[in-house]
Amino acid sequence: MSVEKSAFGTAEKITIRGSGMLDVSLLTYGATVQAIQYRGVDVALGYNTLADYQTMDGYLGATVGRYANRIAGGKFKLNGKTYDVGCNEPGRGHLHGGTIGLSRRMWRAEVLSGTALRMSAILPDGEDGYPGNLQVSVLFEVEGDVFRITYEALCDQDTIFNPTNHCYFNLNGQDGAPITNHLLTINASAYTPVDQKLIPTGELRPVQGTPFDFTVEKPIGRDIDAADPQLRLGLGYDHNFVLRGEGLRQAAVAVSPVTGIRMECFTDRPGVQFYSGNCLDNPRGKSGAMGARQGFCLETQTFPDAPNHPSFPSAELKQGASFRSVTEYRFSK
Ligand code: BGC
Repeated sequence: MSVEKSAFGTAEKITIRGSGMLDVSLLTYGATVQAIQYRGVDVALGYNTLADYQTMDGYLGATVGRYANRIAGGKFKLNGKTYDVGCNEPGRGHLHGGTIGLSRRMWRAEVLSGTALRMSAILPDGEDGYPGNLQVSVLFEVEGDVFRITYEALCDQDTIFNPTNHCYFNLNGQDGAPITNHLLTINASAYTPVDQKLIPTGELRPVQGTPFDFTVEKPIGRDIDAADPQLRLGLGYDHNFVLRGEGLRQAAVAVSPVTGIRMECFTDRPGVQFYSGNCLDNPRGKSGAMGARQGFCLETQTFPDAPNHPSFPSAELKQGASFRSVTEYRFSK
């Protein structure tokens, strides 16, 4: 099948196609997932113009990093030296790699086949405060009904690296009902509670008997407004779940009762940020305004603020070592 290319402002939009049921459109700006059409339903939130991606909040569909999610106070220590990556989230800390990061730059696109596209970028030493010249590539592939993202990186200094994709899904359709009706399973027995600044406290708290228990499928909306201090802090779910097992394994499953579309998230990462889109508030998306809980994210990752928590899985990337990580979104109906 052939790839479709079109201009998207000064960026490019490229669509790769799988079985005929699944098409994924990507932008060279931010290596962004702009649309995921499954059986004719667009299940990914996004914008129609490059200017909207450049000016509106939310990291819709973007590749984020170098360090996805938060770093307390914008500071961490590596090999005895303190690095300051800045606090780009007012009042909280460092978020999603800083002011440029992976999401606010143009990437080089290389079409490998009708089903595969590689985007690459080189981030200079010191950009956003991070050590090392970092070569990053993200391979986007559609194989049958599976959308696979493979991250690869190499750095010329010891550094930290924790990329993710920030796609907001709505399996009712991107312009459909809020995602609170979705049935969700997360294969996690614990999560990492946060402080007022949404930074993990370091505790791994069992989900059992709490609103965070998604070990058995339940509607996202069932407990989302419960009187739970952690839910209050996030205005809903905005927490890292500690995934069971290792290697590429099923992290989560979401199903829309409206369309019957089911999406399984597979990853080799230790955690997943389940964000229920609590702060979405954009005057326009692809079809009209977007409000809270119009989409949810499953951001596969190393735990937030891991560089300041020696007990968390490490996000260090050694000089000359190859980073490789895979996340898959598998669709069915
Ligand atoms: C964070 C949220 C944040 C959102 C958009 C998510 O990954 O966990 O707290 O509001 O990204 O920036």
